[in-house]
Amino acid sequence: MSASSLPSLSQERTPILELEVLAEKAANAFRPFLGPEGFDLAQYRQFLNTMYHYTARSGEMIQHAGSKAHDEELKQFFKYMCNEEQGHYLLAKEDLKELGGEVSEEIPQSVQDFHHTWFSLGDTIYAYLGAIYVFENIAKHVQKEGKDLFARLNLNKKQRRWVAVHLEADLVHGDEIIDLCSRYFDNNPSACLEGGRAMCNCWINVFTHFGRA
Ligand SMILES: [Fe+2]
Repeated sequence: MSASSLPSLSQERTPILELEVLAEKAANAFRPFLGPEGFDLAQYRQFLNTMYHYTARSGEMIQHAGSKAHDEELKQFFKYMCNEEQGHYLLAKEDLKELGGEVSEEIPQSVQDFHHTWFSLGDTIYAYLGAIYVFENIAKHVQKEGKDLFARLNLNKKQRRWVAVHLEADLVHGDEIIDLCSRYFDNNPSACLEGGRAMCNCWINVFTHFGRA
């Protein structure tokens, strides 16, 4: 665990099977874009622009979820998540700049849909726990494919920070949310699964509408 990981969590990691299936489904939508027939350089730039917008409101979005936390452990978790995630959009912007691109003013439709879905997940914390479970457990399924993309597009370290940081940090974040859900999922399984499904669909939506031209 990194120095910035949550110190108080137990090592009790019992993955929630239904949420694992959703995380893998989301990863499966992403995988072809990382592989040999995936992004060319122009499409990778477009992906970075989408990820800039996708993560631009992370701080606000996590705070919104955290406002529904009803105990100290959950409040601490969302505060920690906010610190971990809130600056990541800048990595996408800087990576894009290194490749001669600039982020768009226009927010891609799939990102607008994601924001709308997130802020409509309801009043319990459980939908957000399920949603975060899915997001944070995508990266573990595409570790090799991510590194293959770096090699195939010959990306230097300053051109791949957004993807590289997520490939690494989300291994820790994924375990942390599994640990948390081991203890909270049974309080409201249907809300957790609803949040997980909603976020899986949002992630798939990014690639459904992603330009392949
Ligand atoms: Fe993360």
